[in-house]
Amino acid sequence: MHLPTIRLKPGDPRVVQVLDQRKLPFEAVMVDLCSAEDAADAIRHMLVRGAPLIGVTAAYGMYLAALDEHTSDHFAYYRQAEVLLAATRPTAVDLFAALERAVAHICAFSTREERIAAALDLAQTMADESISACRSIGEHGLGLIEAVAARKGAPVNVLTHCNAGYLACIEYGTATAPVYLAHEKGIPVHVWVDETRPRNQGARLTAFELGQAGVPHTVITDNAGGHLLQHGMVDMVITGTDRTTRCGDVANKIGTYLKALAAHDNGVPFYVAAPSSSIDYRIRDGLKEIAIEQRDAREVRYIEGQHENGVGEVLLCPEDSPAANYAFDVTPARLVTALITERGICPASEEGLLGLFPEWK
Ligand code: MRU
Repeated sequence: MHLPTIRLKPGDPRVVQVLDQRKLPFEAVMVDLCSAEDAADAIRHMLVRGAPLIGVTAAYGMYLAALDEHTSDHFAYYRQAEVLLAATRPTAVDLFAALERAVAHICAFSTREERIAAALDLAQTMADESISACRSIGEHGLGLIEAVAARKGAPVNVLTHCNAGYLACIEYGTATAPVYLAHEKGIPVHVWVDETRPRNQGARLTAFELGQAGVPHTVITDNAGGHLLQHGMVDMVITGTDRTTRCGDVANKIGTYLKALAAHDNGVPFYVAAPSSSIDYRIRDGLKEIAIEQRDAREVRYIEGQHENGVGEVLLCPEDSPAANYAFDVTPARLVTALITERGICPASEEGLLGLFPEWK
């Protein structure tokens, strides 16, 4: 049993509800989205986050736009909604792919009623596709954990960064799916959870959902991974991805690259759980071609947590020190041991990806 990340409001299908992830793990609050603008705000301000969930939220945003449709030029109307929703976060390709698909799908219908039904159907289909992709990633990744468990005869230590769990998707998550399936099968597994500054998606979200599922885990500072890797305390790293190029470069939460370097230096496999919705087969060079989001410096200068009077922020640095907030980095394919996709595991390379996705040739 876990919280819904997105759903139609029970009893009111004209409203979409999302779990406000900014409030976890201290409070679980569902927020109503009543318009495409509300959906755009939810993505921009990170009530929802994580590449697959951003894509599904954008699709529901197009459904909300459909409910408000009020023009004779429906092509222009949906293009405008696409622009609104696309201008929220630049890095995760799921957002842009979902919007492109939604506009093409919705605009193919000739009446407003049909377009509303088509928009809702697509959003629900995309949510189902995400669940199925995550489940398959879990099944493929499970073999990697099982192999280490068989060799080691002791709990398998997985290190992960940020949150690529069910909270970033609909169910299972991507990087966490193999862990959940291993845990369900009784394979002893333990997760090192990078806190993931500045927004602490690891400490706040990954730790929360692993705890809900009863998976043993330990929160560590972002800088601890190198030490653990040097001392044989990590058997594998598994992260998610916001955008993977057709040659296997991976953009993921800032700090992922440093973990890949440290894993490489210590001969520890570094896997990326990559649903096809997060693969941008149109680009090759991640460093040159992926837009890296820069967010408000306030996220670096302040930290939020719980104290005896409730949840609040504290300033971490001198009042007038400037801060920079790069939200993602790119891990070159050469540092990625393999990609775990819904169609199987492949080398992080064009040949590897095309072997599983020949339709991208
Ligand atoms: O800024 P966020 O929280 O949206 O970043 C999320 C990540 O970096 C995840 O690892 C990625 O989206 C994969 S989620 C399955």
